[in-house]
This record gives sequence, structure tokens and C-alpha cells, in this order.
Amino acid sequence: MASVVSPRFAGGSYEDSLRFIYSQDPARWPLPDVRTGVRWNELAALPHRDTDTGTAVVRLGKLLFFDPRLSESNKISCASCHQPELSWTDGRERSLGHEDQSNKRNSPTILNSWFYTSLFWDGRSRSLEDQAFSPINSETEMHSDMPTVIGKLRKIEGYVTLFREAFNDEGINPETLTEALAVFQRTLSSQPADFDRFLSGDRKALSDEALRGLHLFRTAAGCMNCHNGPLLSDNGFHNGGLPVSTARRADQGRYEFTKDSSDIGRYRTPSLRDVTRTGPWMHDGSIRTLDSLPARHLAAQLRPQQVSDLIAFLQSISADPPVFRRPALPQ
Ligand code: HEC
Ligand code: HEC
Repeated sequence: MASVVSPRFAGGSYEDSLRFIYSQDPARWPLPDVRTGVRWNELAALPHRDTDTGTAVVRLGKLLFFDPRLSESNKISCASCHQPELSWTDGRERSLGHEDQSNKRNSPTILNSWFYTSLFWDGRSRSLEDQAFSPINSETEMHSDMPTVIGKLRKIEGYVTLFREAFNDEGINPETLTEALAVFQRTLSSQPADFDRFLSGDRKALSDEALRGLHLFRTAAGCMNCHNGPLLSDNGFHNGGLPVSTARRADQGRYEFTKDSSDIGRYRTPSLRDVTRTGPWMHDGSIRTLDSLPARHLAAQLRPQQVSDLIAFLQSISADPPVFRRPALPQ
């Protein structure tokens, strides 16, 4: 059990003592409430990533990401479902792809995707290079296939030059295409948020509500069992409490990939960075307001004030995406 925040400061409020405690080095914070055996990492500032966005490969990957010619209809690009203005999501419960077919899952942000040890809600992909094949081929996404896309790109003069600049003589092929997309996506990270400013010494950066929410998140609400570390994900797979259907066509979560029955209804713990900007939430987008989340997602009965404190904390780990200019596409 975590140590409770006590004794209170003489004359100080509960919030003052929380502010004092959490202004210390995180090694001195109260231990989080986690179940026996759970391996956890402390919450921490967003890691600084030195990404050179000026390289030829990154520039190429960015163009490809925004290019609808990667789809059969020439209408859907990666950015249709991962829009920079919406923190790289599509704001829908479930994505709409080729001919407005509904995808069975919610489109996650691609910010910080470099951090995950496996990709997709069910973890079926091991790398961003491997992942990029999937939407191009998917019937409900871009509805094309690699040979067709490669054939199309080879006829676009601008790309012939750009691939040469990025990959010398390797040319336009599935490996260079997916590598460019992956390298571009690795340059995308969340922006520092209020919580990061608090950790770097700005004691006013967190409101009283957010501080209470931070403490609740780490202790009584039990969130740290799964959402921990700087990105607030353990990279593990869990049942998030939504009803699991065993109907044949229903989404079975990680089971669809592993065929291990203990994985039915399990999904990868999503990072909570920028989470107030990436709704609707959960693998099926079924949670549309964050105040309804705790009741449906693993938390014990929380009082309304505790719910709003938790949301204030989630706001403090969310930042606006930087203004991002969509590139002009090569002809
Ligand atoms: C029609 C909408 C749509 C299009 C187009 C699309 N995606 Fe996605 N993307 C999704 C959905 C939905 C998921 C989650 C699917 C799942 O988990 O089964 C996803 C997942 C991802 C992930 C995994 C993120 C994570 O946290 O695991 C990455 C990376 C990604 N897409 C990149 C791309 C790239 C690159 C392209 C273009 C080649 C692309 N997407 C095109 C909807 C789309
Ligand atoms: C047992 C592990 C576990 C615990 C404990 C847990 N979560 Fe989650 N969380 C998950 C998983 C797994 C998902 C995705 C579930 C799904 O889509 O069905 C998720 C999803 C979420 C989402 C939606 C994110 C998105 O991008 O859609 C939020 C917000 C969230 N959790 C916050 C919390 C908070 C706040 C707590 C504490 C009250 C908490 N979680 C406790 C594992 C956990």
C-alpha cells in the first residue's frame, strides 16, 4: 500500500502538502498502489528525442503519408485517418476507409508510436516498417496492394527523384516505401505538457485539481498498474473492462493475433499522452466523454470530484499538437 499523504503541514491544506511532496525528486514520491508482482516505471517527463526532420528520408516519408495515391481510389491517405490537427487521429469512433467502409477499430494517434514494443490495439505488428503494409492492403482502409502502389509511384517523376535522394540506387520498392513512412513517423512525438513543466521545477504548472488527480492516479485509483512510465503505458495487454462479445465477427482483441484464449478481450495499454485530444476513446471508440470513462474502465466507484480531478490530471499530460503544414505532393 502507498503511504498516505501525511502528516499534513501545520496549517497547510491537503493540496499544499501534495504540492510539497510531488515537488520533490520523484524517487521520494509515495509508492504507487500496484498489485503484487506488477513491474512499473515512475511517471516522468517526456523523453527528449533528437530527431532530424530535415533528412531526405523523412521528407519523403512525410509526402507519402499525405499522399492519397497510396490508395486504390486515390482519395485516402494515411493522414485521412491520422490527421495532424486532431493529434493524428480522425476524431471518429471507428475509422472510415475505402468507400466509407467502417473499420472495426478506433484510429489511434501515431504520436509516440516509436515508443511501443508492438503496434496496433492487439499488438500484431512488431515495427512501423511492418505496420505500414497493413493499411495499404486492408480492404477497409486503403484497399490497394503493394505491387499496384509501387507501380503507381514509379510513374510519378517527382517520386523517382525523391526516392533516389533518400535511398540512392535502391529505387521505389516495398522496403523503401515502408521505411520512409516509418522514419517519418518516428519523428512525431507529443509536445511537453503542464506535467512536464511541473517536473522541471515550475511548481505552479499543476492546478490543485491536477495534483489531486495525479495522486489519485498513482494511488487509490490504481491506474499505475498499467499506465506507467513517461508515456503512461506498460506496453502490455489487458482487458479494459468493456464487454467482450464472443460472437463470431466480434472484435476479440489480442486473441485474434495470438489465438490464446486468455487474450480474448485484451488490448494494448494505450499511452495517455495527449489523451484529452484523442477521443473518442478505447479500441472501439465507445467512450465519448472522459467523465464516463472511470465507471466503465476498471476504476472503483469514484466520487464526482475524484473523476474531475483525474480528468484535470489527464489534461496536464495533454498538449496541443504543433502546427503542421501539409506538404505539396510531387507530380
Ligand atoms: C481508414 C483509416 C486509416 C488509414 C487510411 C490508415 N490508418 Fe493507421 N490506423 C487506423 C486504425 C483504425 C488503426 C488501429 C487498427 C488496429 O489496431 O487494429 C490504425 C493504426 C495505425 C498505427 C498503429 C498505432 C499504434 O499505436 O499501435 C500506425 C503506426 C498507423 N496506423 C499508421 C498508418 C500509416 C503509415 C498509414 C498509411 C500507409 C495508415 N495508418 C493509414 C486507421 C487508418
Ligand atoms: C489493468 C490495466 C489498466 C488499468 C488499471 C487502467 N487502464 Fe486505462 N487502459 C487500459 C487498456 C488495456 C486500455 C484500452 C482498452 C480498450 O480499448 O478496450 C485503456 C484505455 C484507457 C483510456 C483510453 C485511451 C485511448 O486512447 O482510447 C484512458 C483515458 C485510460 N485508460 C485511463 C485510465 C485511468 C485514468 C485509469 C485509472 C482510473 C486506468 N486507465 C486504469 C489498461 C488499464
